[in-house]
Amino acid sequence: MRLTWLGHACFLLSGSRTILIDPFIPEGSLAVEPDIVAVTHAHADHLGIAAELSKKTVAVNEVAKYLRAKGVPAEAMNLGGTITVDGVRFTMTPALHSSWLEDEGAGFYGGVAAGFVITMDGVRIYHAGDTALFSDMQLIRDLYRPDVALLPVGGCFTMGPEEAMIAARYVGAPLVIPMHYDTFPVIRQNLEEFKRTIERTTSIRVALLSPGESIEVGPEGGAG
Ligand code: NI
Ligand code: MN
Repeated sequence: MRLTWLGHACFLLSGSRTILIDPFIPEGSLAVEPDIVAVTHAHADHLGIAAELSKKTVAVNEVAKYLRAKGVPAEAMNLGGTITVDGVRFTMTPALHSSWLEDEGAGFYGGVAAGFVITMDGVRIYHAGDTALFSDMQLIRDLYRPDVALLPVGGCFTMGPEEAMIAARYVGAPLVIPMHYDTFPVIRQNLEEFKRTIERTTSIRVALLSPGESIEVGPEGGAG
């Protein structure tokens, strides 16, 4: 499976299906038509252009209801649940964060914030969404054994590098890709120390991607 970081929390997974997670695309436009869109929570930097894309969209009940009202074929789910869409498994995991849906100046409760474990072509990707560190990340490891963990590290709105080092250990995925940093000045981070410390003290590998960069990921995080 090919994984592309489009910046912030937005990732494109290309395998037997094309999946776009959190379609807020800070730089440039989208070159591919995704088959499925997954939205972790309602904040504008995650919901992004989900309504405009109008693809099959996986989201928490409240966000799915909002999208359906805009004509998007949204699949509703909630924390702890698993659904299969076009052969791709989506498990919605907890995230420790808030959620608020803004629409044309008005705002309303957007349901809970979440993360996803997405299984496609035998590869399990954990996208943590926006979250603080929480010790039940160990349950995500025990239950789903992710091959790759996409973890927010920017601080301010989510955990920072110090907490994310512990998150990486809790989740236990052999490959960690940091996200949700450097998009705005308040979440600017230097991740060299984060990468060095994790790789020195664990068998986990950290891939620091640039927006637009792709890597091949497979079972156990390796190329495949
Ligand atoms: Ni958020
Ligand atoms: Mn965010």
